[in-house]
Amino acid sequence: MSSLVVFSVPKTGAGRVLPLRESNDFQSRSWLRPATVRCGLRLEVQESGNHAFMLGMGFVGQFLGHQLKEEGWKVSGTCLSEIKKKKLEGSGFEIFIYSLEDYDSSRISTSYGFHHQESLFTLQDATHLLISIPPSVSLGDPVLHFHRDLIWNRLKNGRVHWLCYLSSTSVYGDHGGYWVDEDTPPKPENELAVARLEAENAWINLGCDLGVHVYVLRLGGIYGPGRSALDTIIKQGPLSKDQQRRQHRRYPPRIHVADVCQAIRASMNKSSTWNVFNIIDDDPAPRSEVFSYARSLVMQRWPDKLDGISVDQETLNQHAQTGELIEEKRVSNNRMKSELGVELLHPNYRSGLESIARGYQLR
Ligand SMILES: NC(=O)c1ccc[n+]([C@@H]2O[C@H](COP(=O)([O-])OP(=O)(O)OC[C@H]3O[C@@H](n4cnc5c(N)ncnc54)[C@H](OP(=O)(O)O)[C@@H]3O)[C@@H](O)[C@H]2O)c1
Repeated sequence: MSSLVVFSVPKTGAGRVLPLRESNDFQSRSWLRPATVRCGLRLEVQESGNHAFMLGMGFVGQFLGHQLKEEGWKVSGTCLSEIKKKKLEGSGFEIFIYSLEDYDSSRISTSYGFHHQESLFTLQDATHLLISIPPSVSLGDPVLHFHRDLIWNRLKNGRVHWLCYLSSTSVYGDHGGYWVDEDTPPKPENELAVARLEAENAWINLGCDLGVHVYVLRLGGIYGPGRSALDTIIKQGPLSKDQQRRQHRRYPPRIHVADVCQAIRASMNKSSTWNVFNIIDDDPAPRSEVFSYARSLVMQRWPDKLDGISVDQETLNQHAQTGELIEEKRVSNNRMKSELGVELLHPNYRSGLESIARGYQLR
């Protein structure tokens, strides 16, 4: 049986190679060892023992978790509340509460926040770690802020060999409508985007210290079943302030959750020398266009039921107003396609919304 041997050298977001801190680090870093083989062989050998741990079992975490579980993976994750924990456990996941809300500075060096000590043993057993907890302006990455050493320790003595941080295209900032790709120096323009960029680098550095390659996936606005323009029109009522702000972007990057998971899976199965990938579809259409299409789908699909659907008139009016469009940036997805080999299931919002409409159950 032949296998391809690849040397994987981590780079920072802008493509720089991270410096080795000590010369003897050289020996201990598995990314300098011929450890990575092409996906077929790697899957064949490891499939039975795969264990994914999702720090943050949110929209993406659950979608991916269901896929992996179907394939026989063990899937563990965290959430903030008991209610959600119970719900997720009902779907067959192993769930732990990881909440930093009752933060007490005198306890930060302990495993505080991990409400169940078993979660740390589970983390140690994980082969794949996905981080989807967002940063905050005050703490930066909350997990690394409180628990970097603890996590490093568990992972160092554990089985993890794939680490992925879900980030956002917000780190690029405003480029006046010009194209940006992963080599474009980020220029975050608000505190949250700064925190996001710092979190990316902090996870890359942690991976470097562990000898594990870190994938940073910069996602556009995520939509999918239960979270889409269709759902907003049918269920939600008026747009939130944040949605109204985003309404005015000319090229808002977006991605269907099934394609996010496809990209994540591709990064598990292919070795790459790059850390950063933009994960977005091919059609950054303005939100007003997306909402107008979603509305036409609602009308086509449930013409006689429109009265029964609480389509909020104010919402529709807001969607119809385009206002002055801001030309922020256009984000390239070339690297995702060429390096990870992703062929988008939903290259544009029309395909994504149609598939959501097909599966939509009116209640
Ligand atoms: N949604 C988008 O359009 C979009 C676009 C670009 C990037 N992103 C980023 O991509 C990642 C995944 O997105 P998503 O839509 O799957 O996110 P999501 O549904 O909001 O899930 C976030 C997860 O993190 C947990 N969490 C949130 N704050 C936490 C905290 N302070 N401490 C501990 N846990 C916390 C949540 O707990 P609960 O499950 O209990 O709520 C949830 O499990 C996130 O970092 C998100 O910011 C999202």
